[in-house]
Amino acid sequence: MNAKRDRDRLVSTAIAASRHAYVPYSRFPVGAALLAANGKTYGGCNVENAAYPSTLCAERTALVKAVSEGDRDFLAIAVVTRSGGSPCGSCRQMLYEFSPDMQVVVATLEGEIRYEVALQELLPRGFGPSGLVG
Ligand code: THU
Repeated sequence: MNAKRDRDRLVSTAIAASRHAYVPYSRFPVGAALLAANGKTYGGCNVENAAYPSTLCAERTALVKAVSEGDRDFLAIAVVTRSGGSPCGSCRQMLYEFSPDMQVVVATLEGEIRYEVALQELLPRGFGPSGLVG
């Protein structure tokens, strides 16, 4: 992201979203904030389930919110956890479908930024819509 201000705002939104995380099983709250090309921001948190694999990650919550509101073009996503860990493979894949060039900002719940990279770097030679052609 160009401006530090924009990045900090996105991280703050992700932290706010993490407070809604439903995590009775892992006790590991995750927050995400997805910035659409039109300037709208979508927050998301992880939502766990007693049937564990049905759990939805924070990044995919934010993505599904955005797509279901008509947005498909994204500039960046911020992801916050207490460890400052990286987004999982399923979330990388889902995000890649729409905007492989988006920036991914990874930070802690305290807002300490761990790294920022293009999604393409987290999912090199990823499978996207063009992979179905030919
Ligand atoms: N989780 C996310 O929300 N995003 C990720 O990228 C990695 C993992 C959630 C799923 C589960 O609720 C908890 O973190 C522990 O895996």
